[in-house]
Amino acid sequence: MAEIKKVVVTGGSGRVGTYVLRELAPHFDVTNADLVAGRVDTGYAQADVMELDSLRSAFKGMDAVVHLAAIDFDWKAAPEKYIDVNVRGTWHVLQAAAEAGVRKVVLCSSVSACGLSEMRAQWRPQRLQVDEQHECQPVQAYSVSKLVMEQMGLSFVHGSAMDVICLRPLAVVMPESFAEYVKFVETPGRHWLFYYVTAADVARGFRAALELRGLRYGVFFLSAADTSRAEPTLEWYRSLFGEVPPLENPRLFQRFPRASIFSSAKARDLLGWEPSSDYLALRRQWL
Ligand SMILES: NC(=O)c1ccc[n+]([C@@H]2O[C@H](COP(=O)([O-])OP(=O)(O)OC[C@H]3O[C@@H](n4cnc5c(N)ncnc54)[C@H](O)[C@@H]3O)[C@@H](O)[C@H]2O)c1
Repeated sequence: MAEIKKVVVTGGSGRVGTYVLRELAPHFDVTNADLVAGRVDTGYAQADVMELDSLRSAFKGMDAVVHLAAIDFDWKAAPEKYIDVNVRGTWHVLQAAAEAGVRKVVLCSSVSACGLSEMRAQWRPQRLQVDEQHECQPVQAYSVSKLVMEQMGLSFVHGSAMDVICLRPLAVVMPESFAEYVKFVETPGRHWLFYYVTAADVARGFRAALELRGLRYGVFFLSAADTSRAEPTLEWYRSLFGEVPPLENPRLFQRFPRASIFSSAKARDLLGWEPSSDYLALRRQWL
């Protein structure tokens, strides 16, 4: 495949998009396609993922599309809105990209695709660490929208010449909103899996996905190596949820007791991506 030069990023004006544009701009000819202009100095095309024609014109002549535009979980939108924008919007992006002869689409999925972020008593990690082979059982509209977009991406791989890579970031943290995240995780009695990844690391993941050659389709978690708790992972897991599920690699938790619930080994092996953060250091620096 010839080198990717021209990249259009949907949702580049958002929280994650700003980091992605900054990471990509020195390496590609980048256009931000969003409802509103952003803060990073790149090309800009006003586009609405609900309007196929606006995507058709934004994608003309592009080598790759990075698709971030969506209604994020944080906005607590109505279920049907998540399905409208995240599912139909992604279909439009894939259709317009295929029509324009785009060679690669990188979709921003989410940890939510697997449903474990929903914290339902009946749906807990089946083994640790959770990797991309782990079964997905989402029930909430946002999570379902992310799993469906991955499936739509695979359908376009089968039905067109495009490569599609789906990245599943964990909860994305950045200095601007870190205090809010800390307040959430440190709420007494918080029932959660204490995952995160920095926006800068996520942005490097998108670049790695664009630069990767020879993979037609892939799904990758992008997780920090550690958790947002100071105690060993298996200790807090046991006290919150009772029994710890079977460990795929018990030595990992011996060597690194604060290892994340989610594995990024596949991203490391295939994308050459590794998280760079240390939560306890971030907490000291960013608060
Ligand atoms: N923030 C997180 O912790 C997190 C975690 C995992 C995955 N994600 C995913 O990352 C992506 C970006 O999320 P974010 O946190 O930056 O959200 P955000 O709300 O900050 O940014 C979303 C951007 O998409 C744009 N947008 C919304 N609707 C649009 C439409 N109809 N047409 C064109 N643009 C539209 C918005 O203007 C905005 O700039 C989303 O796909 C989200 O689901 C986010």
